[in-house]
Amino acid sequence: MSTDTGHPENLMDKLVSLAKRRGFIFQSSEVYGGVGAVYDYGPLGVELKKNVREAWWAEMVHRREDVEGLDAGILMHPEVWVASGHVEGFTDPLIECRNCHRRFRADHVEGDQCPTCGVSGQFTEPRNFNLMFKTFMGPVEDSTAAVYLRPETAQGIFVNFKNVLDSSRQKVPFGIAQVGKAFRNEITPGNFTFRTREFEQMEMQFFVEPGTDEEWYHTWKERRLEWVKSLGIRADRLRLEPHGPDELAHYAKDAVDIEYLFPMGWREFEGIHNRTDFDLSRHQEHSGKKLEYVESHSGKRFIPYVIETSAGLDRTVLVVLADSYHEEEVEGESRTVLRLHPRLAPTKAAVFPLVKKEGMPEMAARIAADLRGRFTTFHDVSGSIGRRYRRQDEAGTPFCITVDGQSIEDGTVTVRDRDTLEQVRVAAEGISDYLRDRIEAEPGS
Ligand code: GAP
Repeated sequence: MSTDTGHPENLMDKLVSLAKRRGFIFQSSEVYGGVGAVYDYGPLGVELKKNVREAWWAEMVHRREDVEGLDAGILMHPEVWVASGHVEGFTDPLIECRNCHRRFRADHVEGDQCPTCGVSGQFTEPRNFNLMFKTFMGPVEDSTAAVYLRPETAQGIFVNFKNVLDSSRQKVPFGIAQVGKAFRNEITPGNFTFRTREFEQMEMQFFVEPGTDEEWYHTWKERRLEWVKSLGIRADRLRLEPHGPDELAHYAKDAVDIEYLFPMGWREFEGIHNRTDFDLSRHQEHSGKKLEYVESHSGKRFIPYVIETSAGLDRTVLVVLADSYHEEEVEGESRTVLRLHPRLAPTKAAVFPLVKKEGMPEMAARIAADLRGRFTTFHDVSGSIGRRYRRQDEAGTPFCITVDGQSIEDGTVTVRDRDTLEQVRVAAEGISDYLRDRIEAEPGS
């Protein structure tokens, strides 16, 4: 049964359960009853997340001459957040139900009825609640020592604009990319890893000459959408949704969201923004340091405009999981399968002996050990072969290699394709190259 989003019924619940069962994602501090809206990535989740992060880095940094990487600190000078506008304006409207004392984001509640206790007309007036986490640097806990956990990675890029420009051989237009943690004290987190209080962002700021910004904005919008498609995400579940003038963030001239049709409807997982010269101008003003660019051939000076591409890593992983999840009937039996792009799959190959005798376990162990140096490989000797296949289907493993009686005689093994279920015989000796060719043959590899 599927819903009007085309996803299986209760997909989010199914993903939460599969994520825990197979070791993709766990609730943080679960043994203590959990902590709100923070998640831990387990053995498969950490590989999947790393693969998405690396695919992004390869696309945005390694394959481009005009983008440099950066890894800035999470803690920054507190004035950064005054200059960026976050101290004053990074707020959500908070209301509280006077009956049950639950708090909500005013724009997430319809009407005047409390979603928790059902009592009407008891909401307080909305007040602005700043989403930044505050802490103290050094041994003194007073306001002079207050610092923030960054709510976006972008500011680390802006304040390093000059450092990167002066130490690399880049000229405008060029970009700086970074991936890292961001923190927001969300009032109403939810939908699994969609809205959490600690998450990772993959951001790139592209510095351009004013006047060329609109063209670059369109270029990056198209490029980012193409990249998402290259991960194998179905195009009919993706759309670009421009922000209306009243929805624009305080720094943006233009903004568009890349949205995915999640089980709960269309939602953003990446934004492309024309941030103008807002951030660099503000940092120049607040720091007193010149952040202009001087064009070497003409001597022309200007503060570059910035086109930002800002993706949530955790949200992108959730898109990948939701889009790859399938339930199907195979030869009268139901199976759950994650049709992950092989490049993203946490485990590329699983190796099984058909039975635990006649030299099969030894040969399977040898093949697994050989493959391990090159691909993430899982070696499984126990349970029926059907159960072992189903376990790998749920983990999204694209190739299962089985050592059977014939393998001992002629040195070949079977390779089962996760999606087509086709099995081919391949010489065990050439299995590593065979897998590499199959993975590289996939679009987007
Ligand atoms: N630098 C611009 C910026 O931070 P944003 O739209 O607030 O823009 C960018 O965030 C992306 O970060 C979002 O598209 C989303 O994928 C991710 N993100 C933001 N808040 C999040 C949260 N509470 N939980 C998980 N991901 C979040």
